[in-house]
Amino acid sequence: MKKYHIEKMFTEEEVDARVEALAAQISKDYEGRPVHIICMLKGAAFFTCALAKRLTVPVTLDFMSASSYGSSTQSSGIVRINKDLDESIEGKDVLVIEDIIDTGRTLGYILGLLGDREPASLRLCVLLDKPDRRVVEVPVDYTGFEIPDEFVVGCGMDYDQQCRNLPYIGIVKFDED
Ligand code: IMP
Ligand code: MG
Repeated sequence: MKKYHIEKMFTEEEVDARVEALAAQISKDYEGRPVHIICMLKGAAFFTCALAKRLTVPVTLDFMSASSYGSSTQSSGIVRINKDLDESIEGKDVLVIEDIIDTGRTLGYILGLLGDREPASLRLCVLLDKPDRRVVEVPVDYTGFEIPDEFVVGCGMDYDQQCRNLPYIGIVKFDED
């Protein structure tokens, strides 16, 4: 693993404020309806907790784990389901929560799969979006921040499983040796 350091992109306070605003918007949009949240493990775990505890509509929660083959910083589009949902989503208002959308290959595949299971509605919420990198068109309903093409960590996101617990979002910068 290459040596690296982290440069702050968004502080913990900035992330919290944005999550608060997203939660208010989602609570308004789903008013009077329960929302069935699907947290994409592991990256979205921290964001899902932060968001879900601020929602004012009834929430049910399920978890899914998918991985896209590729290098540590690049996805391939061949998606494997490591853990499927525990419950059926048929007839439910489903909100998928993911840490970051990059090429869109992983979420493009996952949303197709979930759409086939006949939810009443299916929406997507991501903490971060790197629009410049999109290869597969995926409709994103709620976005925390749009960011440039940088590899970021923190708030659940990792570099080779490290840094998920950082309370802020930072850019991974590789050190010269
Ligand atoms: P996509 O299929 O290219 O959209 O890749 C999405 C997945 O790649 C995300 O769920 C992340 O796990 C990972 N990923 C993409 N960009 C980053 C990043 O900047 N930091 C950490 N993980 C990332
Ligand atoms: Mg991920």
